[in-house]
Amino acid sequence: MLNRKILVTSALPYANGPIHLGHLVEYIQTDIWVRFQKQRGHQCYYVCADDTHGTPIMLRADKEGIAPEALIAKVWEQHNADFKEFGVAFDNYHSTHSDENKVLASLIYTRLRDAGHISSRTITQAYDPVKNMFLPDRFIKGECPKCGAAEQYGDGCEVCGATYSPTDLKNPVSAISGEKPIAKDSVHYFFDLANFTDMLNEWTNAGHLQAEVSNKLAEWLGGGLQQWDISRDAPYFGFEIPDAPGKYFYVWLDAPIGYMASFKNLCDKQGLDFNEFWAKDSDAELYHFIGKDIIYFHALFWPAMLHGAHLRTPSAIFAHGFLTVNGEKMSKSRGTFITARTYLEHLNPEYLRYYFAAKLSAGVDDIDLNFDDFSQRVNSDLVGKVVNIASRCSGFIAKRFAGMLSANCSEPALFAEFINANETIAEFYETREFGKAMREIMALADKANQYIDEKKPWLLAKAEGKEQELHAVCSMGLNLFRLLAVYLKPVIPVLAGEAESFLNISAQAWVAGLQPLLDHQINEFKPLMTRVDADKITAIVEASKENLEKTSSSIAVSTPVVKQAAKQFEPIADTIEFNDFAKLDLRIAKIIKADPVEGSDKLLCLTVDIGDETRTIFSGIKSAYQPDDLEGRLTLVIANLAPRKMRFGVSEGMVLAAGPGEKEIWLLEPDGGAIAGMRVK
Ligand code: 2FM
Ligand code: ZN
Repeated sequence: MLNRKILVTSALPYANGPIHLGHLVEYIQTDIWVRFQKQRGHQCYYVCADDTHGTPIMLRADKEGIAPEALIAKVWEQHNADFKEFGVAFDNYHSTHSDENKVLASLIYTRLRDAGHISSRTITQAYDPVKNMFLPDRFIKGECPKCGAAEQYGDGCEVCGATYSPTDLKNPVSAISGEKPIAKDSVHYFFDLANFTDMLNEWTNAGHLQAEVSNKLAEWLGGGLQQWDISRDAPYFGFEIPDAPGKYFYVWLDAPIGYMASFKNLCDKQGLDFNEFWAKDSDAELYHFIGKDIIYFHALFWPAMLHGAHLRTPSAIFAHGFLTVNGEKMSKSRGTFITARTYLEHLNPEYLRYYFAAKLSAGVDDIDLNFDDFSQRVNSDLVGKVVNIASRCSGFIAKRFAGMLSANCSEPALFAEFINANETIAEFYETREFGKAMREIMALADKANQYIDEKKPWLLAKAEGKEQELHAVCSMGLNLFRLLAVYLKPVIPVLAGEAESFLNISAQAWVAGLQPLLDHQINEFKPLMTRVDADKITAIVEASKENLEKTSSSIAVSTPVVKQAAKQFEPIADTIEFNDFAKLDLRIAKIIKADPVEGSDKLLCLTVDIGDETRTIFSGIKSAYQPDDLEGRLTLVIANLAPRKMRFGVSEGMVLAAGPGEKEIWLLEPDGGAIAGMRVK
């Protein structure tokens, strides 16, 4: 097997909030892939860092009355501890606020500038005259220009879902000081992405991206590439631009360079050759695992920056989907916004690693953590199938054979079948089809259990003259268990390590060419994993509801960049595909109750019957209807819209109505035929 040189990264988490289960999908996915590569004997490095720059971090430190450096140092410790306990084994976990990153960001910027890819011009932006700072969109509040809802942020309305620019907000105020912003000019620096159009057209179609990602990029590229604003004015927590005093690199400029900086830091610690991995002619592989919301940065800006700075571009970018919990967006009020720490206080992290592995594929689809399914899979697969093999066989080996395995392999064909499966399983790991790998491994576990069921060692143990057969069967069972542990090692390294101790073997590489353990002394068996305790899940949900107050401010400030980015990539489409339309669950709903919403002159709180359940939906139709007139009326709703937390409560769907507004908003007219719950086809 060719020895590969591989450098792998996961997206750098912002240094102003806790790691939560949504983040962990990516870190666990990457960690499994890296562990697999290492187990196969490749030279593979996994680096990451905290993403420490930007306005939200600066303001949060301000709010806590500490310096940004102190905030990021504190969060670094927390992130590091969370990752460690989840078994996410970075070779290096660094910070974007580091010397290496400063040097590399300056180097890349200077090279881009000298090659003519940076330009500057004056732009006008909202400015807080009290705080003396420019305001990012997310820090301007006002009334929604579409529905008039109060207290909406500059990047979109949480009541009606409209997106707009902050200058459209009515009666805008700074979310920091409460003062009315003024318009102010300043010089900004731009990266001329359009200079890289040809390069990017080629690169995005050259096998570095998943097919669905390439397609999305073709749309963006087709629309023409805009200049990217890479500077921010002081005060800003970041790196000052070398030739522009008072101007700082925008956080997203130095964030991906943080991948290089973390690796540089590792190289300096371990005497590795940095250029071997980053020079233009590098033969090393470079992979970035990311969420689908930050594709634009990684598949357009980043390769262009690297190319323009005469460095190598990534071998591939692997995007994944988001995490939903129990079928819905993670929600603080439902207790499903679960931090890594809260989870760790109650449950074994390897349960979650296995569950995510079982659900992950190579695509960008969202994955769902369903608590019932979680318990059921962990209990049935890991405890009921895998660990069970060892517990069924180990007692007899210990008591009847002094912990010694038999001298012969009684079922060479079965052993060979398990070994031969390694290629398929390896291919699934390599291509990030972890769900398929888990199914393959569990099919082998079923076979091992069937073998034991057929041989019935518990009867052999009682029968006369069956000593040798008992020895052979239990030894075989443990040899099969060993192979399952090797296959599962990238996913559940702690359990696999304990299995190695129990079997008295060294850390196992991949199985190619592996021989059975014969005439081999094993150690005492200790239960390797217990079943998921349902009460612990309840405790996590309750604790996460309690966390609400404590974490909400940090989560609120950690979202803006992602939100803006996601918004930028999801324009309202001129046409949508039929498949997109088919995802909508459109239903006739009967309004059971309509209540005014205190503090809102637009919204009514509707209780609607959608056939199989009753939902609460906030709808901006107050100007057209008296609440009493609505009771008993039919309307059309989108029943599978992810619940949205609004200022007044959670809205569990959307009412569809048409009309110019004010008094003219039309719902369905009763026609005697429609019934609540009918699906629109
Ligand atoms: O979206 C985020 O959470 C960013 N902090 C990711 C940065 S990834 C890389 F470019 F640094
Ligand atoms: Zn609105």
